[in-house]
This record gives sequence, C-alpha cells and structure tokens, in this order.
Amino acid sequence: MTQTISSPFPLFCCRPGAESFLQQELETRHGIHSRPFVPGMIQVEGSRLPESPLVFEWQRLRNARFASLKKGESVPDQVCETVWQIWAENPQPWALHLFPLEEADPGGASRLQGIARELIRKGNRLHPALPKWERKPEKLIRTGKGMILQCTCSENGLIFSMGPTADLSSPAPGGRTRMKMDPRAPSRSYLKIEEAFVRLGREPRENETVIDLGAAPGGWSFAFARRGCHVTAIDNGPLKIDDACVRRIEHLHRDGLSYQLNKLQPPVDWLVGDMLIPPGQAFGLLRYWLGEAHCRNLVLNIKLPQLDPLPALNPILDWLEPYPELEIRQLYHDRREVTVFGSVNS
Ligand SMILES: C[S@@+](CC[C@H](N)C(=O)[O-])C[C@H]1O[C@@H](n2cnc3c(N)ncnc32)[C@H](O)[C@@H]1O
Repeated sequence: MTQTISSPFPLFCCRPGAESFLQQELETRHGIHSRPFVPGMIQVEGSRLPESPLVFEWQRLRNARFASLKKGESVPDQVCETVWQIWAENPQPWALHLFPLEEADPGGASRLQGIARELIRKGNRLHPALPKWERKPEKLIRTGKGMILQCTCSENGLIFSMGPTADLSSPAPGGRTRMKMDPRAPSRSYLKIEEAFVRLGREPRENETVIDLGAAPGGWSFAFARRGCHVTAIDNGPLKIDDACVRRIEHLHRDGLSYQLNKLQPPVDWLVGDMLIPPGQAFGLLRYWLGEAHCRNLVLNIKLPQLDPLPALNPILDWLEPYPELEIRQLYHDRREVTVFGSVNS
C-alpha cells in the first residue's frame, strides 16, 4: 500500500492555547502567514523563517512531514525510509527528540515510544551504520553539530523532522524544559526560575547578591538561597520557607516597583522579579535595572493581559533589540506570562 507522506513544511511548537499569539507575532513582526496545525503547533507558510526564536515559540521543525498512521498500526517501511533518507545522504552524529502532544493525542506518550522503537529498529536494518552514530541529545546540542530527529504524534498521524541541531530554538524536546519540584520550595513558581537558569546556561553561585521583587511565598528566593546566595526578598506578603537557607534571605516589606539601589551601591549579581503587575510597569523595571546597568543577570517575568498580549509586548521587544544577550520567551513553566532573561553588564 502506498503511504501518504506530506512534503516538508515548517512547523512551530508553542504552549497549547498560545497558537494565536505565535501566529500574530509571526504575522505582525515578520510578515509571515501561518495556520493552526494541531493544538500546540502551527504550520508556517513558505520557507522564510525568522532567524531568532520568537517569544511564543517553544521549538521549530524546519522540515516537518506528516504521515498518516492509525492507532495500533505499525510504521510502514516507506515512512521509515523517508525518516532516515536525509541522514543516509550525509551520515553524521544524530540524536532523537520525542515529545508527546497531550492536547493533540491524549495518552499518546507510550504510543510515541513504540513508534520511535520501530523507527530505530527498521532504520538500523536499512542503514547498519546508524547505531554507531547515535548520540545523547544534550551532548550533541552542546556541540551545535549533527542532526536531530524530532518526532511527535497527533491522533491520526506521525509528525517528524530530521534537521541540523543548530536549527532548534530550544535544547529540550518540543521546547518542554521540564524541571523537578523541590519539596522544600514553597511555591510552584520555583520551577520557572529553575527553568530560567537552564535556559540562561548559568546557575547562581555562592555569595552572589540577589534582589527578588515580589518574592512571597519564596520559591525564587529559596532557589537562590539554597545555592548560597545573599537574597533581598521584597514583598509585603509572608515568606514560607522552612529550610535553614532562609537565614541568607533578608525580607523587606517594601514596594518592588519603587525599590532602587542607593547611588553608591554597585550592581547586584541578579535582579529577578515575578510581581503581578501590568507589562508597562515591568517595562519600567527593565529600563531602571537593565538600562541603567544596576544588575549583571536578570530574570523578569511579565504577566500577559487577558486579551491580545502582542501590543503590550511590542514596546518591550523593540527596546530589547540592542541587547542580543537577552531573550524574551514563554518558558515551559510559564502560564499566562513570558520571561525576559539574560546576563548583561558582566
Ligand atoms: C506570583 S507571586 C510571586 C511568587 C514567587 N516568585 C515565588 O516563587 O514564590 C507574586 C507576588 O508579587 C507580590 N507583589 C505584587 N505587586 C508587588 C509590588 N508592587 N511590590 C512587591 N511585591 C508585589 C505579591 O504580593 C505576590 O506575593
């Protein structure tokens, strides 16, 4: 039987529910049309893609293909041949990124594992050199070399893309940088700052100074204090940290919007903020802390308005353009929010 496999087309992943934001960002900031593909993925028209990752982009599959595949059906040989064809034309180190799409294929994680096992087994038969070129994805991505096979499923088919690791817009499969909760952390916000450290490629070091704006109940402050940093936690609400590292945290009941260093104080190592404030006020914080060089590293969470986040984000995006070392992205653990992060002035 001849299998239907689509021609290659670009697909972008995003947080399920944020598809229209990503589409609007592509359209208004880059003049690129797109359409929804499955929940958490949009199909980009044409082959011109923005070079830098977009705010709402979790991952990109530059040359994605779709092969229809019913549940329980084994992967047809023709699909396997297509999957490995690009690799076979130029054998080199490769790695696998699997990411189940819960919204597009509920409970599909084990199905995806099964499909991947079959793809690899049949690939090894087609190309006996394949196993010796397989690498761990983290290692390969660190070198920026080799190829990544990205695979996921919707209810009625397999979505895959083989391409250079350099094309990825996040090092995590599907852009899902899943962090582990620490039972001592007083809030799930802890996961956001831990993810920001991974995305920054930089962990806080012992004795670094930190200002945490909107700190309560203390997940972010805890993440720094447990690493030996000196934290100034600003919030009128109570901290709920039940761990010895709390002695490294000074809690100030102050307004984070007006809190500033005095004129003689050197820049702090970290300015972080997670206050429930509108994007315009977050922009004001960026201008003070970054624009006036009062910090070396910054992680600032920006809460999105209920409707239409792009108009609120555009001034910030424009202002950040001269700072290529800073990124503004919707992290995996962000909900209705995005995060500005980067190391500057160091
Ligand atoms: C989402 S919570 C922060 C969670 C925290 N990052 C954590 O890890 O536990 C937002 C906090 O911002 C604080 N907040 C809002 N506006 C503030 C302001 N103007 N100054 C200081 N804190 C503020 C609130 O009191 C609230 O505790």
